[in-house]
Amino acid sequence: MTDSIRYRPKQDLAHGGYHQTWIGKSDAELTEIGPNTPCGEYLRRFWHPVALASELGARPRLVQVLGEDLVLFRDKSDRIGLVHRRCPHRRSSLEYGVPEERGIRCCYHGWLFDIDGAVLEVPGQPKKVEERVCQTVTLGAYPVKDYKGLIFAYLGPPELKPAFPVYDTFDLPGQELVPYKAPFHCNWLQVLDAIVDPLHTAFLHSRTSREQFSKGFGEIGEMKFYDRTTSFLGTSTRRVGENVWVRTNELVLPNFTQAGAAFAADGSERRYYGRTAFVRWVVPLSDEETTCFAWAVFGDRADPPEYNTPEGCELIEQGELFDRSDEEKKLFPADAEATESMGTVTEHEKEHLVPSDRGIVGYRKRLRSLVRALQDGTEPVQAADGWHDSPIPTYGGDTVLHKPSNGSDDGALLRAVGEAVMEAQFEAEGLPEDERVESVVRRLKQIESDERVDQEFG
Ligand code: FES
Ligand SMILES: [Fe+2]
Repeated sequence: MTDSIRYRPKQDLAHGGYHQTWIGKSDAELTEIGPNTPCGEYLRRFWHPVALASELGARPRLVQVLGEDLVLFRDKSDRIGLVHRRCPHRRSSLEYGVPEERGIRCCYHGWLFDIDGAVLEVPGQPKKVEERVCQTVTLGAYPVKDYKGLIFAYLGPPELKPAFPVYDTFDLPGQELVPYKAPFHCNWLQVLDAIVDPLHTAFLHSRTSREQFSKGFGEIGEMKFYDRTTSFLGTSTRRVGENVWVRTNELVLPNFTQAGAAFAADGSERRYYGRTAFVRWVVPLSDEETTCFAWAVFGDRADPPEYNTPEGCELIEQGELFDRSDEEKKLFPADAEATESMGTVTEHEKEHLVPSDRGIVGYRKRLRSLVRALQDGTEPVQAADGWHDSPIPTYGGDTVLHKPSNGSDDGALLRAVGEAVMEAQFEAEGLPEDERVESVVRRLKQIESDERVDQEFG
């Protein structure tokens, strides 16, 4: 499977469905994520959220991630464990285990395991046997991090465990992070695609469904894609009356995504350097199931606090509530309908990619090269590399500038403004947050009043 934009010779004459009944191949190299698959191995080099902290009560919880069934539990000392589902004695599931002061006890014959997988007790056996089992047997276990309402896990080789990546949007002043999750009954790749597909917002979220966010989303913007090695940005720059609205979607490989506000920006009012409305990971549970774990973000630079409700988080995620009748889904389709209806794993061979899919082509190509490089022994670069003393800078967000059309080529003006807005942010990369805001906003105001931008490109 290649990533180049490709078309098949036209063989399907009118009413020629007969000629298209062949089954296209899925892109197995990127869609198969289970243990011992190349992509699964690559994904295991990163921290992923595996549950909402609010989902973990007193009893163990069965979770699935990267094709493995695992048991998440909190012991009575308030420590969290994530372990293989089945007990190493005779394979009972630890979802029926009993959390104790230290670790979890299997319901069947009472073996006790610590959160790191160590066997602590083997009751009912001669002392010698118990000692030998404790020294030679372990339960599979993974390290976890309970952070701002999400439980993250690292499922890769222990000796390669990377530092937990802290992005700048985890702690912006005046912003509240609210955890939520969104289920998708399909492969992770087709869920991930949407973030680098700025065109779909104009259709799925506006023209072909209903106005799910705001009127401005229905405008088709001038698109530009930025390939920044491990991150991909897609900007859509739209004209809304006398304003120019630059909206940036963001993917940091393998699966970290951000975008602008869902409800706070519609292009009608000035907005200087708005930031993301969600901080989100697209986590494959199996080849056919995906869950987006995320924080919805509320505050002046994200979405308004009145959307801080369970329903509000669903609307920010996809413009519609998740649980709807078939009738409503058909009237007002949203991301789940668009992506799940491709089939649990889409037939990539039957896609016909076009220029607005450049972001998708680009990120799949990079993902593939990283998966292959790991197979050849090269560990992937981590987003945190080079940012150990400060948060990792990110770009998902919105800026709206007052920039009337100059009567000439408005498309060229939009492209110029879009590029200048991104440049203003790239130049401020690495500054402490308050200086960064000051620098970016100053530059944005310059772009707004700078007639050279108009003249040069108008
Ligand atoms: S199956 Fe778990 S202790 Fe026997
Ligand atoms: Fe969408």
